[in-house]
Amino acid sequence: MTPAVGKPLDRVDGRQKVTGTARFAAEYDLPGLAHAVIVTSTVAKGRVTAFDTAAAERAPGVLAVVTPKNAPRLRPAEPFGSSETKPVAGTTTAPVLQSDQVFWYGQPIAVVVAGTLDQAKYAAHLVRVTYDAQPAEVTLDSKGRVFVPDKVQKEEPEVTVGDAEGALAAAGAKVDHTYTTPQHNHNAIEPHATVAEWGGGKLTVHDTTQFVFGVRYDLATRFGLKLDDVRVLAPFVGGGFGGKGGAWPQAFLAATAAKVVGRPVKLVLGRDQVYACVGGRTPTRQRVALGADAGGKLTALIHTGRTSTSTTNTFTEQFTFPARHLYASPNIRLAQELIELDVCPPTFMRGPGESPGMFALESAMDELAVALKLDPVELRLRNDPDKDPTRGTPFSLRKYKEALKLGAEKFGWARRTPEPGSMKDGRLLVGLGVASAYYPVYRNPSSARVEVTAAGTALVQCGCQEMGMGTATAQSQIAADLLGLPADRVKFELGDTALPFAMVAGGSSQTVSVAAAVAGAVAALKAALLALVEKADGSPLKGLKAADVAFRDGGLARVDDPKAGESFGAILARAGRKSLDAKAEVKPGDEAKKLSMHSYGAQFCEVRVDPDFGTVRVKRFVGAFDVGRVINAKTARSQFLGGITMGLGMALLEETHRDARTGRLVNADLAEYMVPVHADVPALEAYWVGDPDPHTPMGAHGIGEIGITGVAAAVANAVYHATGKRVRDLPITPERLMSAPLVP
Ligand code: MOS
Repeated sequence: MTPAVGKPLDRVDGRQKVTGTARFAAEYDLPGLAHAVIVTSTVAKGRVTAFDTAAAERAPGVLAVVTPKNAPRLRPAEPFGSSETKPVAGTTTAPVLQSDQVFWYGQPIAVVVAGTLDQAKYAAHLVRVTYDAQPAEVTLDSKGRVFVPDKVQKEEPEVTVGDAEGALAAAGAKVDHTYTTPQHNHNAIEPHATVAEWGGGKLTVHDTTQFVFGVRYDLATRFGLKLDDVRVLAPFVGGGFGGKGGAWPQAFLAATAAKVVGRPVKLVLGRDQVYACVGGRTPTRQRVALGADAGGKLTALIHTGRTSTSTTNTFTEQFTFPARHLYASPNIRLAQELIELDVCPPTFMRGPGESPGMFALESAMDELAVALKLDPVELRLRNDPDKDPTRGTPFSLRKYKEALKLGAEKFGWARRTPEPGSMKDGRLLVGLGVASAYYPVYRNPSSARVEVTAAGTALVQCGCQEMGMGTATAQSQIAADLLGLPADRVKFELGDTALPFAMVAGGSSQTVSVAAAVAGAVAALKAALLALVEKADGSPLKGLKAADVAFRDGGLARVDDPKAGESFGAILARAGRKSLDAKAEVKPGDEAKKLSMHSYGAQFCEVRVDPDFGTVRVKRFVGAFDVGRVINAKTARSQFLGGITMGLGMALLEETHRDARTGRLVNADLAEYMVPVHADVPALEAYWVGDPDPHTPMGAHGIGEIGITGVAAAVANAVYHATGKRVRDLPITPERLMSAPLVP
């Protein structure tokens, strides 16, 4: 039997999804279901002085209008990341519906519950609110509190190697520029939604989340319940991208509403409400300064800047992370600061930190290549380090140069003529640009249960998440190979706190984290099968140790004599059983402490720029990646293409506009916040090196986020090559491009 891992297998849940039988959170229509609609604040800071709910309460079908005055008392939530061991997913410490304080424009301040959605929506518009509003600080340059966070996602906020400013001053070639990226907001197809039901003091919720156990912890904390008295289900999630990594208000507001009316309640955020009360990516302002010697070797690397957080969470967009590990330089200085603003708590968004950070760093690398008159691919090859430049640790796997060369070859980089504006297609300017891709390898504790049956099938369970990436498919392939079964004999169940624990599907960590737990459970199952064999006579496997036998063809066989074996059916029949199961809880080792573990890649972009209108069309895009072993060639490719697509949005379209006077988001809808549509996305290509990492489960790396990194820089660098204009502020709109000066 050839291994299932690596094959481009179809999604095991593909048929359910395309036929509409896969049920998403908002599709649970329970008997007696009521509908809740939130009312959001129209000031960014201050206090609600009065609610006039009389008209809303009189409106047809209304069951309750819940405000801080009559809401059940909840306990404070714990903010995300406040603990290393607890599955904390709280996104904000704001006492939503528990006080009259307002912390951002769009904060939920009341919930209207009615028999139908239309009745609830209508009544919500009748709630009149009076505020005592205070001036709010809402931009990177405002008077909010500026500070250096204690940690940036568990790492130091500042890193110093040598004397970077001194080396920069002395460098023969140098660039030193400021780059900005705007706020981005989440636009998963499925908006945030929860169906909550109480029964016998227990709470069951269908929530759209990347972390059922985190939402369970959040709800149990707020409502003062035991973890076992809360069940959270999310077998299908319609896109997450980080926006569903924490517990957002819809979950506890739906549970609150259900408690008040004594019926199950559905709460679905409108698109504008997702913008209003679910965090997005913070704006960034970054300085990147690079110095190099005449041979094109970096002598100084400086990456510093500011991002924003909110008054009710501390979230640091880790934009300096790539520069910690990507390029060799004897002198490095990296630093991040935060400004605290009266805004919705910001959160993770695909490649948080790495996406904006790589725009700045990789634009600057292109600018340095121009200053050195050196090919930008060659510049990157010359600065590939042989050990981690800031930690000094060896790399677990680093095939960066291989990925760069693979991408250059597939893209046809050799046809590029270096002079800006030197390539044309009729009256259009042609530009070819390159940037690196980079993302860390993260791994979390996870657990799993495996059960095999006499019929030679297996059930594998883990409360992890499927939000489009193909989790059940990839894990079925992994389990199939471990169990010696064809992939179609393995069923994988997920997305339910009744299943074994898994951490958040975030940080591109899920595949390897869960794979390790599945492998652990399979090893435990092998021991359990051998224990059955020992209890009776007649098995060719009797007396053998775990190392002497392997899973093979729906059973166990001797390693030294594969013909000597028994099927699961035979082993179970002798023991009078129909099935056997085993569980495992698996934690990462200390490999991440001893080694520098990352994924790499290269993004190549070809654009056409209209010189009269400043419009940029992406003509072709090639990404090549070093991500360890690829588990499923089809779903992996989709992950890369999805990441690149999102990166094209970041490069050319996506930008949340905030009214600096009021804190209101101006373009909180898909008509005015633009994301790429099919017409914006050309044929994309994704390739990978494929060498396994000897230090990760299955030799794999996560691949959900690396695809977006470097894309915006590759586009900006291609635009520079086409036009000779350097746009350092995203997105590259026609206005920005037309008004940019020619450089150098
Ligand atoms: Mo990802 S931004 O860690 O879901």
